[in-house]
Amino acid sequence: MIKRIVYISKSTINFNSNELRQLATRASECNKQFDITGYLYFEKNHFLQYIEGEKDVINTLINNIKNDKRHEVLNVQENKDSSNRKFPTWHMHQLTKSSLIQINMENILMDYMTYNHTGISSESIWRMIDKLSKFRKKLSYSL
Ligand SMILES: Cc1cc2nc3c(=O)[nH]c(=O)nc-3n(C[C@H](O)[C@H](O)[C@H](O)COP(=O)(O)O)c2cc1C
Repeated sequence: MIKRIVYISKSTINFNSNELRQLATRASECNKQFDITGYLYFEKNHFLQYIEGEKDVINTLINNIKNDKRHEVLNVQENKDSSNRKFPTWHMHQLTKSSLIQINMENILMDYMTYNHTGISSESIWRMIDKLSKFRKKLSYSL
């Protein structure tokens, strides 16, 4: 069984594009070792990150991430029942606005999770994640 987590956080420091790239590269290297896949999106001082993998490694990673002083985690959604990965080739893919030009789904998801904690059902969030995975192959920077 694959455990999947999506969360939103607010950065506590100013990240420039180099620092963001470094963060995603380092995350990707570490995630490879533990067979964790997912993506990271940054916009307006907020991160949206989706991670998937074996239960124990995901629990350890989310604890590390929550303790990371470079951001404050605001909203975490967990889903334990997936039998397959949605983003098997992305160890930690840095999604950029240009790679999302065809779909504005991440912004929508981010807005929901930031401003509307109570108004959206957990099922809607997971439906959006599944939709995004169907678009994955269309994204230009998909490797
Ligand atoms: C927004 C954000 C996303 C992160 N994503 C990952 C990740 O996917 N994988 C990872 O190993 N570390 C990630 N990190 C870094 C972890 O918080 C932590 O620094 C890392 O696991 C190393 O922990 P350690 O120094 O205690 O070994 C992320 C940090 C931030 C701020």
